Amino acid sequence: MVVGRRVLRLGEVTSTNELAKSLGREGEEEGLVVLAKSQTTGKGRMGRGWSSPEGGLYLSILLRPRMRSADLLKMTVFSCVPVAQAIEEACGIDVQLKWPNDLMVQGKKVGGILVEGVSKGAYLDFIVLGIGLNVNSMPEGIREPEATSLKALLGREADMDALLESLLLRLRSFYKEVKEGDLNEDEYVHRSCTLGRCIEARVGKETFRGKALYLAPDGALVIRSDEGLVLRLSWVNETSIRTTNSEELDGITLRKD
Ligand code: ATP
Ligand code: BTN
Repeated sequence: MVVGRRVLRLGEVTSTNELAKSLGREGEEEGLVVLAKSQTTGKGRMGRGWSSPEGGLYLSILLRPRMRSADLLKMTVFSCVPVAQAIEEACGIDVQLKWPNDLMVQGKKVGGILVEGVSKGAYLDFIVLGIGLNVNSMPEGIREPEATSLKALLGREADMDALLESLLLRLRSFYKEVKEGDLNEDEYVHRSCTLGRCIEARVGKETFRGKALYLAPDGALVIRSDEGLVLRLSWVNETSIRTTNSEELDGITLRKD
């Protein structure tokens, strides 16, 4: 067992990712899980904040795979799968994935993943995989149609312990697959609410409109722009996408239920 080898259960913290990173720098072994009841400065991608009131699930896992910075995208994208599976297993709620790091239910964001790496030479010394889920809490200051919680979807409190247990089990097998180079990419495609859709992608200061064609094995999203250019979106920290309509392309298997 790697993931969950040691679990630090904390009350209010700044950010579980920040705590896990400082423990990683001090030489903590891989598998540590930092779990908090709330965060005062929870972080999302691109310097954005992650609203983290009590009732949500906020955890970070310290891992030491042999990886380069370029592999962080793959970790971000594919780690969404075990989290979606855990939510389905524990709560019976069907979860879709919005590239690169969002967990969605009925078009609303229920959670997100933030993977950060700390380098040591050409390789990463360690990575921190942070997961935030709106379980029995609603984010503060986020407009209602954009976000939801498991509690709101279920119409009752979700079982946090069952969710955490499923999450750790799923992440354990996920990490084993990562290390063995045995990731099942089809599971991602099956759950994607991005592939096959018309999208608008903001990459730094540029905006591209087009269709999301497929997911490359390294986690990059390949799109065809309206001008006919085929582009690879892989700068996870500078890329933001939104779907512009629900059109689907032929030949891409998407979940329809
Ligand atoms: P995209 O992924 O399309 O670029 P995003 O808005 O999902 O856009 P992220 O960086 O993935 O961007 O997530 C951070 C954003 O999520 C914040 O800017 C805020 O709008 C929103 N957010 C913050 N806290 C929560 C929360 N607890 N639940 C849902 N959404 C949140
Ligand atoms: C996003 O959608 O941008 C990712 C949000 C990730 C939030 C989690 S909560 C636990 C961990 N600690 C943080 O500060 N961020 C991640």
